[in-house]
Amino acid sequence: MRVLMVGDIVGKPGRAAFLQVMNRLKAEDRIDFVIACGENAAAGRGPTLEMAQSLLNMGADVVTLGDHAWDSKEMVEGIDLDSRIIRPENFSKGAPGKGWVRVDTPEGELVVVQLIGRVFMQSNYDCPFRAADKLLSPSMNLGKVVFVDMHGEASSERMAMGRYLDGRVSAVFGTHTHCQTSDERIFPGGTAYITDLGMTGPQDSVLGREVEPVLKKFLTGVPHKFDVAKGDPTLEGAIVDVDMKTGKARSIERIRIGL
Ligand SMILES: [Fe+2]
Ligand SMILES: [Fe+2]
Repeated sequence: MRVLMVGDIVGKPGRAAFLQVMNRLKAEDRIDFVIACGENAAAGRGPTLEMAQSLLNMGADVVTLGDHAWDSKEMVEGIDLDSRIIRPENFSKGAPGKGWVRVDTPEGELVVVQLIGRVFMQSNYDCPFRAADKLLSPSMNLGKVVFVDMHGEASSERMAMGRYLDGRVSAVFGTHTHCQTSDERIFPGGTAYITDLGMTGPQDSVLGREVEPVLKKFLTGVPHKFDVAKGDPTLEGAIVDVDMKTGKARSIERIRIGL
């Protein structure tokens, strides 16, 4: 089964790119399942429940969030209504929503998990490594096909997670930093890995935002409003071909499709 993992969708241009590329890849029969990081889908900020559901309607099977999960009150109040929208598993106990979901597909069950790193991020998240251990313990019985979105700032922490989970899950992919890395590979235990999928949004920008205000902020230290940039967007991500019987990855292909 070919699983497309989509890097952070940023604002309206990102949503437009996502819809167009979904239609194209599905028409070409190149993908069977789609995991999309939607944490910046609403003008660069965390989506409402309705907006995350619109990504599901466009072709995503699961939408992951991240540190922007609670930007909208509607998501805080509504996330429990839709199991296909997940937030990091290692958010503090008592947070709404869930950090993983099991989805039935024509080819078998597939589980998607999201974790969040702690290096150069907020410090009040639980340990993502121990959270992963807990989820992957035999008593949880998650199954063989597990895709893990490791949302984080530091490459080291994301790569360490990839190595830690090698042989225990089908894929570990990084989100959050919006810069696609070229280190996709399959680890010795059969886990596909990439440090960051990249961004689905306007490339003529600083991580999806207009260049000028970001420069002004760096040059003066004065806060500026960072609007989502205009210009033609690109979808970035990776496609993993997974053996549904063993849960091992057969291949990982990094993709970048411009409009
Ligand atoms: Fe993030
Ligand atoms: Fe992001």
